Amino acid sequence: MSVQIHNYDVVIVGAGLAGLAAARELQRAGKRVAVLTKLHPLRSHSGAAQGGVNAALAEDDDIELHMFDTVKGSDYLADQDAVELMCNKAPETIRWIANMGAAFSRKADGTIAQRPFGGQSKPRACYAKDRTGLTLLQTIYEQCERENVTFFDEWYVADIVYRDGVVSGAVAYNIRNLEPAIFAAKAVMFATGGYARSFKISSNAHANTGDGLSIVARHGLPLEDMEFVQFHPTGLAGSGILISEAARGEGGRLYNSKGERFMEKYAPEKMELAPRDVVSRAITKEILEGRGVGPNKDAVAIDLTHLGEEIIMERLPELRDLAITFLGQDMIKEPIHIAATAHYSMGGIPVDIDGHVRKNPDEIVRGFYAAGECACVSVHGANRLGANSLLEALFFGRHVGKHIAEDLDNNLFEEPKVSEADAQTMLDEIAFCLNNNGDERVPELRKELQESMTANAGVFRTEETMLKQREILKDLRARYKKIRIDDKSKTFNTDLQEAIEFGHMLDYSTFIVEGAIARKESRGAHYREDYPTRDDKNFLKHTFATMDKEGNVSIGYADVTLGKFEPQERKY
Ligand code: FUM
Repeated sequence: MSVQIHNYDVVIVGAGLAGLAAARELQRAGKRVAVLTKLHPLRSHSGAAQGGVNAALAEDDDIELHMFDTVKGSDYLADQDAVELMCNKAPETIRWIANMGAAFSRKADGTIAQRPFGGQSKPRACYAKDRTGLTLLQTIYEQCERENVTFFDEWYVADIVYRDGVVSGAVAYNIRNLEPAIFAAKAVMFATGGYARSFKISSNAHANTGDGLSIVARHGLPLEDMEFVQFHPTGLAGSGILISEAARGEGGRLYNSKGERFMEKYAPEKMELAPRDVVSRAITKEILEGRGVGPNKDAVAIDLTHLGEEIIMERLPELRDLAITFLGQDMIKEPIHIAATAHYSMGGIPVDIDGHVRKNPDEIVRGFYAAGECACVSVHGANRLGANSLLEALFFGRHVGKHIAEDLDNNLFEEPKVSEADAQTMLDEIAFCLNNNGDERVPELRKELQESMTANAGVFRTEETMLKQREILKDLRARYKKIRIDDKSKTFNTDLQEAIEFGHMLDYSTFIVEGAIARKESRGAHYREDYPTRDDKNFLKHTFATMDKEGNVSIGYADVTLGKFEPQERKY
């Protein structure tokens, strides 16, 4: 099959908030932009974020306090220049999206309502009931359509064109009919989302298979801080479907099977409004020590009944629906059952403050940018505060879009040189998945990956569990070479797509585990029972890891950009 070659100024991969915010800026700057997404833009995972987007808007709040909360929440691993930029620009970012029509919930005086979230000193999360991400996504998508951004929906990007330190295109196929194409561009931006789907209990969409990260890593480029995976405290028992932090923000109380409000033991001051890493560990410990609720004793209860029907229906209607649909529990009448769920990726593709992808700590890749959850800039360090991710995606998406436009105006790019041969790696991967005739099945392998990652590299980790996981990953990698898929057709072949995605999951999971083995300390979401304290002397640094052709990961480190907030003991 011949490979079509399309030409654009900029190709953006991913149509969540970061990708769309960048696309809108670039289109308005008169650039030829194409947005490629394996979904429809409105199915992007940004739409699943429920509770809010942070900005220090209130009179008694302060941008510096937002910075401090973010840096403390990150367990001092965040780069403070990036945090400062994002927090400073947060109020303007909210006004920008509100002026485009985002329907935020409002107070009686007409100002934007804000609710408390974990680890924040003030109620700082602006929200649209409990559908904030969806509201923002719909708003910005509509604006992109208004600006005539070109979308390639249901195109799967499987590779980039990367030669001599320059990226000059994305390699993709049309999911509808397997038609391959190269999208040549002076600049390629990845906004491909997170990677928490390698865990069994996860709030992530099925699409969050970390494709962008593994594509980058397969070219020998580094990934940063991959061991830091956030476990959100409140996923619905059994499935992990998100019950927003808004539930705790609005006053939800956590109880174990003995009826104890157990957060008193773990975070006496902040209680349920401690940051996610602290609350997730508390919940998991209660369950592991036998104080869980439910038929399998694998959950704790969150009680919202004291809020009353009116407040629940006004502020948390979606959450109520989810708990009724998936658990048969009505939060107006009874406590609902929740447990920690893999939720967010703090690690990702290393980028500088303007979104340039870093080839190593000192050098950038020309023509290549990233923003949003797939990128590590790093504003979240070892643990993200709730409602800072929508802010990151909106602010950095827009900021990087503007920056690419400037780089184009300054003629910083060469004309992209691509040829049909650049699609060969993708074509070989497709041929392997379609034609390989082994006896291993991808859904089985994926189940083993997800179950073992949850058991061995989850909320609590030890050397022993992770060495075990290293061996499991090696075994899964060997068995992946022997897969067979049933659907050999060219039409919406999801069997094929899942096989390619599983290859990505194996690659980035190896980074998670190797980074976690090497980091012999506990910091933020990375908790080592065998090294339970933070070790700033040896590990106040970012992990920069690379992978060779055989899938072996090597670990290196890079400095953290410190600033006005000196590392302190982190208590809540
Ligand atoms: O809990 C939530 O509503 C999720 C928000 C976030 O991850 O920032």
